[in-house]
Amino acid sequence: MKLWSGRFTAELDGLAEEFNDSLPFDRAMYRQDIACSVAHCTMLGATGIIPEADAKTIKDGLLSILDDIDGGRLKISGAEDIHSFVENALVSRIGDVGKKLHTARSRNDQVATDLRLYVRDAADGAISQLCELVGMLADLAEKHAQDVMPAYTHMQKAQPTTLGHYFSAYANMFLRDAERLKDCRKRVNVMPLGNGAAVATTFPVDRALTAKLLGFDSVTENSLDGVSDRDFVIEYLSAAALVMLHLSRINEEFVYWSGGEFAFIKLADEFSTGSSIMPQKKNPDVCELLRGKSGRVFGDLAAMLTVMKGLPLAYNKDMQEDKEPVFDADKTLRISLAVFTKMLQKTGFDTDAMARAADGGFSCATEVADYLAAKGVPFRTAHEITGKIVRHCIDCGRTLQDLPLDEYKKFSDVFDADVFTAVDARTAVERRSVVGGCAPSELARQIKTLRKRLKGL
Ligand code: ARG
Repeated sequence: MKLWSGRFTAELDGLAEEFNDSLPFDRAMYRQDIACSVAHCTMLGATGIIPEADAKTIKDGLLSILDDIDGGRLKISGAEDIHSFVENALVSRIGDVGKKLHTARSRNDQVATDLRLYVRDAADGAISQLCELVGMLADLAEKHAQDVMPAYTHMQKAQPTTLGHYFSAYANMFLRDAERLKDCRKRVNVMPLGNGAAVATTFPVDRALTAKLLGFDSVTENSLDGVSDRDFVIEYLSAAALVMLHLSRINEEFVYWSGGEFAFIKLADEFSTGSSIMPQKKNPDVCELLRGKSGRVFGDLAAMLTVMKGLPLAYNKDMQEDKEPVFDADKTLRISLAVFTKMLQKTGFDTDAMARAADGGFSCATEVADYLAAKGVPFRTAHEITGKIVRHCIDCGRTLQDLPLDEYKKFSDVFDADVFTAVDARTAVERRSVVGGCAPSELARQIKTLRKRLKGL
């Protein structure tokens, strides 16, 4: 039975019905819908809007429906949306008293409330996964605080750093993601129920009571806004998109680090795949998919921004399109975080290969320029001199480490034997002890801060 059949003389066209129905996807929030209805009828009973005994019958009916769906005894089908489905099932179980459930409520405030409950769960789940990942990255940062490797700019060796410094960088990104989701959760956790179709209700509802029963911090201030606001979805999706972006970046790193030319990391067999034609191949498919899946979540965000951008107040059916992007982003984000965290635990790091790479490729050229500048040569001049030394080394097949001192002196008489300490990759790392730097002592401070923020989440 349709919830709105009274005014109509003809049935909805079959194709229009298929097009209109949201049950095939909004069934995913049956738990939230039933929780919302249980709280609503409890409030209706407590305020005397309906008799307490009726509220109790409705509540028991709703809980039996929940139990039967959970247990696979009741199939969700044959209705326009999850709200109609639950109401129809209720009426067929408890009779006409079930028809009192929708007093002082519209599907417009109901669906907005259900979705907020869903997004709140999605955010909470992702926050706890992110916390686990950040904790793991902080441990890896600590473990590899001394392991020198090159830092890259333009994907060319730039300056020496440590693997720990890299892990701390990603830990900072994922920690911001968790903080962002936590912040967005504050605005998600506001209840629109009681806003009715658009301009609230004439019944003396106790919104504070319903909010308390559902764990909301507060209620929406304006009913037109409350039923039509989907900012909370967009905020969640943009926070989710940033998590995926960060996952995509670290997995791009892993793709090329695991390749033959770099061979910095060894992906576990359990997280790699083979080729159907090339027997030697071990492909980083999981990393690539983690990179590729970001596209879906960016798409979910773009879809929601587009759905909402031209909508007048208040509810419009366009907003039914708000659910699939949330479900898709939630599913994608949760499995991506889970698989990456599991893969990271089993990934091997070849710190010797990294150290060798840090020694080559003139990654200590900045040290030479800084060495001269520290001895009073203006930095621009020092940069110019060092550039000439690098060119000379390339021409004669030398490195900054094995160029004899008398050759250094030909470029500037400021050079002394201590230049060889300066161009040692480990020294270069240890000297960067300012806040943000890669020196092990500074990294220890960064990790402490990370863990403190993590605890505060
Ligand atoms: N299935 C609808 C949605 O997801 C529920 C709200 C229907 N409201 C209405 N006025 N038709 O948005």
